[in-house]
Amino acid sequence: MKTEVLTASAAATQRAALLLRQGRVVAFPTETVYGLGANALDADAVLGIFAAKDRPADNPLIVHITNEDALLPLVTEVNDRARRLMRAFWPGPLTLVLPRADAVPAVVSAGLPTVAVRMPAHPVARALIDASGLPIAAPSANRSGRPSPTTAQHVFADMDGRIPLILDGGAAQVGVESTVVDVTGEAPRLLRPGGITVEMLMEVVPDLTVDPAVLAPLAPGEKAASPGMKHRHYAPRARVVVVRGEPGNVRDVISARYAETEKKGQKAAILCAAPRINVYQNLHTYALGRNEAEMAAALFEAFRALDNQGVQVILAEAVEARGMGLALMNRLLRAADFDVVEA
Ligand code: TXA
Ligand code: MG
Repeated sequence: MKTEVLTASAAATQRAALLLRQGRVVAFPTETVYGLGANALDADAVLGIFAAKDRPADNPLIVHITNEDALLPLVTEVNDRARRLMRAFWPGPLTLVLPRADAVPAVVSAGLPTVAVRMPAHPVARALIDASGLPIAAPSANRSGRPSPTTAQHVFADMDGRIPLILDGGAAQVGVESTVVDVTGEAPRLLRPGGITVEMLMEVVPDLTVDPAVLAPLAPGEKAASPGMKHRHYAPRARVVVVRGEPGNVRDVISARYAETEKKGQKAAILCAAPRINVYQNLHTYALGRNEAEMAAALFEAFRALDNQGVQVILAEAVEARGMGLALMNRLLRAADFDVVEA
């Protein structure tokens, strides 16, 4: 199959919408990362997403809508907490897990009784959903296990030959996936940190709890609340090691590890905040940004760029797990498969 990449003009968006109505799979930009969309009400179309991504069938998808009326047929109940969160953060990078209505095929939710729904803010995503007239199931548009795509070029690298069309809307601004909150239980529970921070959520739902799996590996045999969190994820081909501790110690540990890696004939790189690159003199550093939000936005691009440079070991400085730093640490720890050195 030939994969076309089209700048997201009105005509290109209409073409993509037509493909969606025909049950095909197309990639489109959102403010978080690029999505791989299909008609959420058509089980066969949704299976096409799993095939294009090589996604395990037990990892559920997010359904994208543009208005609250479109939510009602997808769920059996919208409680008060859900309404407060929607009012505060939709449209935007917040996904809510709600009780699933029968109209949503079980494959969308990997058989769970719930469904994850998000209202994106990106104008191209919104125009596409509106033009299709459908709720659109869409995971991130990467091959399963690879870093999420933040540009149309990233999508092309993973999906060439697998889907008919990629709408190019430029680089995604948030750069990490949406925050996922389960609102079906007693208290709202954060399953995945993302573009809306815990601090922002707490202002609206002070009883929010954070799933322990956000920053720690699952114990053997433990069941993931969000099935997507059990797979090694967001990962470059390079091995990732996270180094945490007092800044001077972190520099010493990273410098020593870097030297060991190069001595073995392997290529190393250091991932850190922009102000930290001077600390590593002549070593190969990659500056993610000046603050946690910039760093999170640049992480997936960094993973892909370092892979393309043939880097085999990425030594990443830990950041504080608050604000956008929580989403950044969540992605880093998963990419590292929880290989953390305490410096
Ligand atoms: O920002 C985003 O959310 C992007 C864009 C395209 O909207 N989408 C995205 O989808 O990141 P994906 O499939 O890569 O991640 C969806 C996450 C997974 O961790 C999955 O396990 C979780 O949401 N999820 C989906 N449905 C769920 C459900 N019913 N219950 C619990 N977790 C669910
Ligand atoms: Mg994903």
